[in-house]
Amino acid sequence: MRATIKDVAKAAGVSPSTVSFIINNKPVPISKDTREKVMRAVEELHYRPNQLAVGLVTNTTNTIGLILPDSTNPFFATLSNQIEIKLRQKNINVIIGNTSGNAKITREYLRIFSDRCVDGIILAQLDFEDEEETAKCQKLIHSIDIPIIYVDRVADERNHYSVEVDQKLIGYLATNHLLDLGHTRIGCASGSINLNVNSSRYEGYRTALKERKLTPDPNLLFCDSLSIECGIKALPDLLGQNVTAIFAFNDMIAYGIYKECRNYNLSIPGDLSVIGVDNIVLSDIIQPPLTTVAQPVTQIADYVVKGMLDLMKIPNIEFEHVKLNPILKVRASTMQAV
Ligand code: RIB
Repeated sequence: MRATIKDVAKAAGVSPSTVSFIINNKPVPISKDTREKVMRAVEELHYRPNQLAVGLVTNTTNTIGLILPDSTNPFFATLSNQIEIKLRQKNINVIIGNTSGNAKITREYLRIFSDRCVDGIILAQLDFEDEEETAKCQKLIHSIDIPIIYVDRVADERNHYSVEVDQKLIGYLATNHLLDLGHTRIGCASGSINLNVNSSRYEGYRTALKERKLTPDPNLLFCDSLSIECGIKALPDLLGQNVTAIFAFNDMIAYGIYKECRNYNLSIPGDLSVIGVDNIVLSDIIQPPLTTVAQPVTQIADYVVKGMLDLMKIPNIEFEHVKLNPILKVRASTMQAV
């Protein structure tokens, strides 16, 4: 049975209000001896304040709900870790919900966090392949009276605070790098093109080609998922299109291409140049180190936490739509076209 504040008071021989003053560090004159007695009782009874009761009094739970589409992906793992560290510095706890990109699960977590009266929600996916699902999530969000900030997979939801990276520029930088190396048949290995992040990267790819008077070939776009499996499946398909380079829409896809190249006895970059997106933790460790377009995860987390804290303090704050720039990291997986 969970100890209550009354149990602690009884064990220490003081009133419940004295216990409350002490555990909440209220500026009231209490003797050192009484403080020690109370803290000893707290320890012995393993007392923890009931956060629901505290919330009813303070109207805050000091907790943020963070909803991620794929916590197994190092990009999201690093982003959520950065957000947690920064919020913990403000004595705010984070509860994470992983949705596997499923809109129904996203709505379940929105309801769970709302029912638990979190002080805010950080939503890393409000963009789904099925536009109806996106609309259902938006409808639910409008019914929830809790500050919500969007990050990364932001639908075109202008009336919410959002933090994202310029996804079209990601595609443009990756493609331009390969074009500068003389590649003209550049394959794309992507997740669903119905996701904004992927369609925007593909738009950047097309823009870079057109700038050099090259006509994008739709046969060079392979769509599956933002996963290692996509890279494994994409390689034979794109090799059949005589590509000399592949733009993988994230590093996990690039890892799949690396893996499958072994089965085709292809060397990277000698036989095939590969560029990724995200600059996740293994990308400069694998052989050859992966050329990739990095997303500024620490900066994303800074803006998300700042926006969340502002929204919690001033609910009707002027919404910001922060758009950050990606950074090209040239390593050893790309080389001059032969
Ligand atoms: O690797 C996961 C990808 O999905 C990242 O590029 C990020 O932008 C997310 O949307």
